[in-house]
Amino acid sequence: MIIRKSPREIERIAAAGAVVAETIAHVGSLLAPGVTTAELDDAAGAFIRSRGGIPTSEGYKGYPKAICISPNAVVVHGIPGAYVVADGDLVTIDVGVTLDGAIADSAYTFGVGEIGPEAQRLLDVAQDALAAGIAEAQVGNRVGDISHAVQAVVEGAGLSVVRSLVGHGVGRHYHEDPHIPNFGEPGRGPRLSEGMTIAIEPMITAGGSEIVVDRDGWTITTEDGSLAAHFEHTVAITADGPRILTPRVGVPERGVQV
Ligand code: MF3
Ligand code: CO
Repeated sequence: MIIRKSPREIERIAAAGAVVAETIAHVGSLLAPGVTTAELDDAAGAFIRSRGGIPTSEGYKGYPKAICISPNAVVVHGIPGAYVVADGDLVTIDVGVTLDGAIADSAYTFGVGEIGPEAQRLLDVAQDALAAGIAEAQVGNRVGDISHAVQAVVEGAGLSVVRSLVGHGVGRHYHEDPHIPNFGEPGRGPRLSEGMTIAIEPMITAGGSEIVVDRDGWTITTEDGSLAAHFEHTVAITADGPRILTPRVGVPERGVQV
């Protein structure tokens, strides 16, 4: 069941989204060679609480930490811990915040220090794919229009979309209907209507599209060890077009600003 939100509820999701964006920027400012992902997670949790929010991931289906931190070949759901960030790493920071009962969700892949040209291209393509998907998040379009737009950018650049992980409705719960796949056919799937709030989140790799789940039950890595990138925004479908509820602060972003 798709839950459409009132304008008032969308404002509450946007308030949560502002905390999400600030948290991503805060963690980004601490991201440097030598820091552990556990230290970054502690800082994120404290920051979210200082803003009156709750880290949505903490305790979600038993997830043990405040946010997800996914280095290099880790696609999503990396559990912060002893990993020491190194120069040249790609590190995805994925943050959910619950504020006043409303939930927003966003992710950003940072390059640490000097990253190689292949890694930079992966980041650029993932951001362009997210922007292309958001541009299709229009009243009257269908989910497949978003999915196809993301896929076309990624595969057009010779990179791969992870097919077994999807975006999702969000706002009252962390994961709501509908699924938002990152591949698909234009004109297919649920119709987009005013008040829907969805997380669009291309997860892409420099190699193949297959993934493996670690024995910890969470960490998802590319099967071939290739680098991954993940950019996500929570977006409201409005009569005036897509509205990003997690607009970036303090970090560069490529692509369409809606
Ligand atoms: N933020 C993730 C998403 O984009 C969900 C993380 S679930 C968790 O959907 F339990 F791992 F935190
Ligand atoms: Co999400």
